[in-house]
Amino acid sequence: FGDAAQKVDYVFKVVLIGDSAVGKSQILARFARNEFSLDSKATIGVEFQTRTLVIQHKSVKAQIWDTAGQERYRAVTSAYYRGAVGAMLVYDITKRQTFDHIPRWLEELRAHADKNIVIILIGNKTDLEDQRAVPTEDAKEFAQKEGLFFLETSALNATNVETAFLTVLTEIF
Ligand code: GTP
Ligand code: MG
Repeated sequence: FGDAAQKVDYVFKVVLIGDSAVGKSQILARFARNEFSLDSKATIGVEFQTRTLVIQHKSVKAQIWDTAGQERYRAVTSAYYRGAVGAMLVYDITKRQTFDHIPRWLEELRAHADKNIVIILIGNKTDLEDQRAVPTEDAKEFAQKEGLFFLETSALNATNVETAFLTVLTEIF
C-alpha cells in the first residue's frame, strides 16, 4: 500500500514451448531467480514464475508459463495459451531434432494463441558450441521467413537470457 515499488502497470503472460530437455525451465529459472541447475527434472503439467521489471518507466510484471515438452506430461493446450501475449519457442543448438520440430510447435501456437502474439525463436545451450548441430544461419533464415525474433542463449552461463525476455516484453509493450 502506497509503495511505489510495488505498483504494477502491466501484467504480461509469456509462454515457453519446445521439445523436452531443450532448457525451457532453466531459461525461466535464470530469468526469474538468476539460478541454474544441471540436474533439472522434466516438468510435469504447468509451472509459472513472475518477475517485475521496469520498461520505459512502467512497471511490468512478466508472468512466464512453463510446461512439459513431453506429450504425456503436457497441460491442457488451450488453457496454456489463453491470454498469452508473448511466446518463446525453444530448441537446443546441439540437437537437430529439436530444431526440426519447431514448425510443429509454431503450428500449435498459431492454432491456439492470439494472432498478435509476439514470438521469439531461441536456440539454447550456446555454451556447448563444440557440439553444435544447428547452424545459426539456418535458424536465422527460418525466423526471418516466419516473422519471428531470434536469439541464441545459454541458461548455463546466462548469455542473452535477459535480452531474450526483454525483446519480447518490449515488443509487447
Ligand atoms: P521439459 O520440462 O521436459 O520440457 O524440459 P526443459 O525444456 O524444461 O529442460 P530443462 O530446463 O529441464 O533442461 C534440461 C537439461 O538441459 C538439464 O540438464 C539442464 O541443466 C540442461 N540445460 C538447460 N539449459 C542449458 C544450457 O544453457 N546449457 C547447458 N549446457 N545445459 C543446459
Ligand atoms: Mg521443463
